[in-house]
Amino acid sequence: MDKFLISGPTPLVGRVRASGAKNAALPALAAALLTDEPLTLHHVPRVRDLRTMRRLLDYLGVGSEERDARDPEDPQGSGALVLQRARPISSTDAPYDLVKTMRASVLVLGPLLARYGFARVSLPGGCAIGVRPIDQHLKGLAALGAEVRLAGGYVEARASHLTGTRFRFDLPTVTGTENLLLAACLARGTTVLENCAREPEVADLARLLNAMGARISGAGGGTIVVDGVDGLGAAAHRIIPDRIEGGTYLIGAAITGGDVLLEQAGAADLAPLLDKLAEVGVEIEVSPAGIRARAGDGTLRARDVATAPHPGFPTDLQAQYMALMTRAEGMSTIRETVFENRFQHAPELARMGARVDVDGGSARVHGPAELTGATVMATDLRASACLVLAGVAAAGETVVSRIYHLDRGYEGMELKLQGLGARVARVAESQAN
Ligand code: UD1
Repeated sequence: MDKFLISGPTPLVGRVRASGAKNAALPALAAALLTDEPLTLHHVPRVRDLRTMRRLLDYLGVGSEERDARDPEDPQGSGALVLQRARPISSTDAPYDLVKTMRASVLVLGPLLARYGFARVSLPGGCAIGVRPIDQHLKGLAALGAEVRLAGGYVEARASHLTGTRFRFDLPTVTGTENLLLAACLARGTTVLENCAREPEVADLARLLNAMGARISGAGGGTIVVDGVDGLGAAAHRIIPDRIEGGTYLIGAAITGGDVLLEQAGAADLAPLLDKLAEVGVEIEVSPAGIRARAGDGTLRARDVATAPHPGFPTDLQAQYMALMTRAEGMSTIRETVFENRFQHAPELARMGARVDVDGGSARVHGPAELTGATVMATDLRASACLVLAGVAAAGETVVSRIYHLDRGYEGMELKLQGLGARVARVAESQAN
């Protein structure tokens, strides 16, 4: 198990580029189950969740390999991941061992069912951030005509064919919307999905599926219409940049009094964060080169935030924003409305000198606090990023343990931070003591 050793404080200054979006790449890989032809994906981040998804697909008979295929949009990029069914389907089972570490494994359910008429997927694990049911995925698949049952910790879904329907999600769910898109593109007739998640990663999946021959319109909005087709074929697709990773570095500029240009980043997908940072007093400049965040005159203002589905403030940036608020003048209230139990970073921040009171789904942050280095423990993916940013801003040595959470979703974070001037080192557990 690795740790990060961080010596702070250092301002983050320079240019950084976001990797491909983990949350867009995961459903894109699952789409490979829908065809026998090759799928070429550019800009797939090298993070643990993607390795887990590749292992799961491999188990299901879809091979994947990195090739030196250049992306015309990014000549310096790191090649492509090519996925293709390597052998006839041997199993439609996604077993617990593979699924337990990553909730997004449930994304194989829709495509397996649509293509093979049967799927058996272990109920997912993933981040320890409260109860995360998949009832909407299951209700949606049932609406498409599947017979769904839960047995022995597994979901079993069966249908000789899926039939287009009108289905309204009770609440917007990102992977739920994606699972239904993956299933509905091979259904007979037209499916209308309402109250869909509007995250950019959903729209990215629809672009990929359309490139494979699907007929999907409206993705990125609340209502998506899918006209079923008989089969899907080969496609090449570039995964969108990771707005959460990029946003983390912009918050990093703000919390350390730095100046960071996030290269090639689209401002639209990051608007909820950029608006909030501007209110806090961070200078934001959007240009064709990217998004620049500069700590303004040095004073950060406390500003409340409530997380919400896109285009609201992303829950995946809540922890990092809390780190920022510990340094701001005044009191801010942070409300988490998407997940329960997503403030596990608060007591760890307190170990670094922050004053945070958590009350149910709200946290009050009293700033500004002088952050000082401490030994802290990462508890989930985004909480880890929060602690790393706090460590870069804090005076003295910080040790962030259990960095494997971070490795699920941040590609080379220590390298990118070092490139921005931070003193961060990855060390194996035994070396850190
Ligand atoms: C995705 C993201 C995750 C992000 C989250 C919210 C991926 C791989 N992960 O997770 O990083 O934090 O969106 O932006 O894309 N819910 C139900 N029933 C369901 C499904 C969800 O009640 O069937 C609830 C969840 O408990 C949660 C809310 O809906 O309260 C949103 O969850 P959802 O959008 O499904 O999150 P994920 O897709 O798991």
